[in-house]
Amino acid sequence: RKSLVSSDDFNVDNLYEILNLASDIYREPKKYSNLCNGYVLASLFFEPSTRTRLSFESAMLRLGGSVVSIPEPNVSSVTKGESLKDTIKTVSQYSDIIVMRHSQEGSAELAAINSDVPFINAGDGGHQHPTQTLTDLLTIKQCLNRLDNLVISVCGDLKFGRTVHSLVKTLSKFPNNKFIFISPEELEIPEYIKNDLIKKNIEFKEVRTIEEVIDKVDILYMTRIQRERFFNEAEYMRLKDSFVLDNKKMSLAKEDMIVLHPLPRVNEIAEEVDDDNRAKYFKQVKYGMIVRMALILKFLEVM
Ligand code: CP
Repeated sequence: RKSLVSSDDFNVDNLYEILNLASDIYREPKKYSNLCNGYVLASLFFEPSTRTRLSFESAMLRLGGSVVSIPEPNVSSVTKGESLKDTIKTVSQYSDIIVMRHSQEGSAELAAINSDVPFINAGDGGHQHPTQTLTDLLTIKQCLNRLDNLVISVCGDLKFGRTVHSLVKTLSKFPNNKFIFISPEELEIPEYIKNDLIKKNIEFKEVRTIEEVIDKVDILYMTRIQRERFFNEAEYMRLKDSFVLDNKKMSLAKEDMIVLHPLPRVNEIAEEVDDDNRAKYFKQVKYGMIVRMALILKFLEVM
């Protein structure tokens, strides 16, 4: 029984297997349209989501499978006090694969241990979001044709940003990648990620503005300052406008760089940037569904 809890569950070989399958699905989606006939995906989202939830559900439907879900977290028996362990054991009896998002760090690991069917973490608190990483990697591979020899800058809330944590750990597995972290001091990337890079002898630096590095990067990965993870509203208000990418800053960037964002955005990318052909965040949304189709096929061992 396979499970995906964190980006540590991937190695370079199985990443390429999923990404190559995803590229083929992108080219010829019709070839895959009946492969999950008779299989059921359970979609358990205890935290809000648009992209991850709908892309997983759409992926399963496009593969010919079916989806069961709890429409709102507060209509499940969790509100009556049922434990996550019992919920997962129950849902395992109704489905062939489970996708779950939950606000608590570590919830994905607990669910994976207790599931009788393949389990996929769709985001656990501020910890990890490994399928967003697959989305990001497919976008980078499709747009830049490589996953190595890149200068990657990530900008915004690097403390709570689970998409960033998964992405940096995963891109650090590919040769000659370098990282630039752009954040306020209060939202720096966690020490365990910096220590991991130091241990692997991977170059990185921390800066406070986009302007000082944008001309050097192949990828600028913007993220939202995450209001829901702050304990203190005044602190959020002080930091929420720390970074705004606009056309003036983009005029300093290389012609062949790309801008990514896991979305949703608030105001950290001005809408005027959407028309720049280096802005790839809405392509990223489409690739998210495609790569989740590939992941479902691999986890159900249909391919
Ligand atoms: N990128 C992402 O996880 O978006 P959602 O929160 O809408 O799923």
